[in-house]
Amino acid sequence: MAFTTEVLECNPDSISFPTDQPEITSSETQEALHRASEELRAQRTVAFPTETVYGLGALALEPAAAAKIFSTKGRPPDNPLIVHVSSREMLQRVLPPGYALSRTYETLLKHFWPGPLTLLFPSDPSIVPPIITANQPAVAVRMPSHPVARALIALTDAPIAAPSANSSGKPSPTRAEHVYDDLQGKLGVILDGGPCGVGLESTVVDGLQEDGNLRVLRPGGVTVEDLERVIREDLSDVVPLPKVLVHRRDYRDEAMEQAPTTPGMKYRHYSPSVPVTLLCTQSQPPSGAARTSLTAFLDTLQSDARSLGKPLHVGVLAPSDSPLLEKLRAAPLPDVRWTEFPLGPLEEPAVSAHRLFDGLLSLDKAKVDLILIEEIKEEREGLAVMNRVRKAAGDSVWIDI
Ligand code: TXA
Ligand code: MG
Repeated sequence: MAFTTEVLECNPDSISFPTDQPEITSSETQEALHRASEELRAQRTVAFPTETVYGLGALALEPAAAAKIFSTKGRPPDNPLIVHVSSREMLQRVLPPGYALSRTYETLLKHFWPGPLTLLFPSDPSIVPPIITANQPAVAVRMPSHPVARALIALTDAPIAAPSANSSGKPSPTRAEHVYDDLQGKLGVILDGGPCGVGLESTVVDGLQEDGNLRVLRPGGVTVEDLERVIREDLSDVVPLPKVLVHRRDYRDEAMEQAPTTPGMKYRHYSPSVPVTLLCTQSQPPSGAARTSLTAFLDTLQSDARSLGKPLHVGVLAPSDSPLLEKLRAAPLPDVRWTEFPLGPLEEPAVSAHRLFDGLLSLDKAKVDLILIEEIKEEREGLAVMNRVRKAAGDSVWIDI
């Protein structure tokens, strides 16, 4: 079905939550939210801002509505969806009757909900349709903190399933314009609430395992350091103290890696339409791979440019105070044209998280021939940044600078 896609402005500052129900002072925002809510109730998809990335929402408990998410995005059916709720009461509606949260989950909810943390809960297929969970025993749920997202869910009075609002495989959208460029004609309404604050998707955590530890399936907006801190502070009397284990860093799960439920394991992710190369300046090359000198790397670029017969347009995503960036700027490469997209200071990975997808999408739109991304430290938000960068990059070069 072809749609005329309308982009409706919403002012997040006009929305407050004195209770679970929003109070909205702007009539434009109120009308836009009601319009979007009608679309959802009519079992169609709507794009809306969250604090992480823009989401493509549909009624989670209506299989026919949820199915439209998969067709709009071209998403493989075995990749499960996150269910978004606006209140604790709505969370209980999607959980098995009588299910009580563990003390660890109560602690996480107290500190991080609403916010960029998704938790796995046991799922009752008579409540949550199997199309949402891809027949997994657990359902992923989060309560977004973005006022527009939370108000839309509360006004619709129904849990909303929402993956990122991009065609499958592309970088996730962090501005309404990104959604429009990608999905225009495939949905009726995009709510524009301005740029997303976090810029990367939520952290997906499985705390349902017998040992009581938290397993981070996808690093994201809530950092591992944040999770460890609240566990240390609020659960100090629990023996043994739950650990925070990051998939592929602290543990591996072969069965899970075969299943599509592990975010980004099976499918191609976050790839713009131009090639992306990761420039590693922090990590050691794997055995068998060698470091390249910066001069040798630049020589390759220059000779690629010469054989192209026109200037090679190279997009660079790097920390604004990176020594590598300074050297690239100073390099005498007559046939290379640079477009920089700074990722913020080296010591502020939250800024890199905020800017990464915007950078990939903006450089793609600027029609560069190649994107270079510089590696950052895998600390705090840097862990989630590098998780996405590795999936976006077709190849990696270890540079000696
Ligand atoms: O920040 C976010 O999480 C955004 C915004 C829109 O809320 N949503 C998002 O959804 O990133 P999506 O579909 O792009 O990524 C959700 C990931 C999937 O890759 C999936 O593997 C994992 O969460 N997931 C969902 N349900 C799951 C389940 N039942 N068990 C394990 N993993 C699950
Ligand atoms: Mg996604």
